[in-house]
Amino acid sequence: MKKEIPLDKAYRLLNPGCVVLVTAAYQGRRNVMTLAWQTPLSSRPPLVGIAVAVSHFTHELIAASGEFALNIPGPNLLTAVQRCGKISGRDRDKFEETGLTPVQARKVGVPLIAECLGHLECRVVESYKTGDHTFFVGEALAAGAEEGLFSDHWEEKAEIIHHLGGNWYFVSGRRETG
Ligand SMILES: Cc1cc2nc3c(=O)[nH]c(=O)nc-3n(C[C@H](O)[C@H](O)[C@H](O)COP(=O)(O)O)c2cc1C
Repeated sequence: MKKEIPLDKAYRLLNPGCVVLVTAAYQGRRNVMTLAWQTPLSSRPPLVGIAVAVSHFTHELIAASGEFALNIPGPNLLTAVQRCGKISGRDRDKFEETGLTPVQARKVGVPLIAECLGHLECRVVESYKTGDHTFFVGEALAAGAEEGLFSDHWEEKAEIIHHLGGNWYFVSGRRETG
């Protein structure tokens, strides 16, 4: 028998995909939020899903604009990742607070984060209420990654981060072939 894990921590057994910084904007307001609960959903069309708590400012912006972007940070951005996951952008500008640089996206009216390693620009095509979160399904309209770090997958030297819980993260770095 394995050690029993309390159900409110059970999700932590599913090693989530990489942590992303979600950017959103609506009518002159912009925001950055840290998010671990993301998943690819379809290749054709290219769909991804994110679970965003209904109470978050980011939720309000995505629901109003129908757009979001996923920015993939490296470990050099861990302080900003932690900060953007602890404070709300409702009454402050997290770009200014963290020093992250907003840059124009190709297809959506949401800023991308220059310091991140890659980006997906998405338009919301479905949303579902899942408990205290909304699961937004986004169709990727454009995607980009740092030259040299991504061929048809992340290269070994691309360090991306995975949330373990609390303020703990794994940093990827070893590539194996199966
Ligand atoms: C590593 C990490 C992962 C997080 N993952 C999620 C997530 O998947 N979904 C979510 O709704 N909030 C998540 N959060 C919490 C939000 O980022 C946090 O509540 C944030 O302050 C909300 O900001 P906003 O009100 O500006 O939108 C996470 C926080 C951290 C630190």
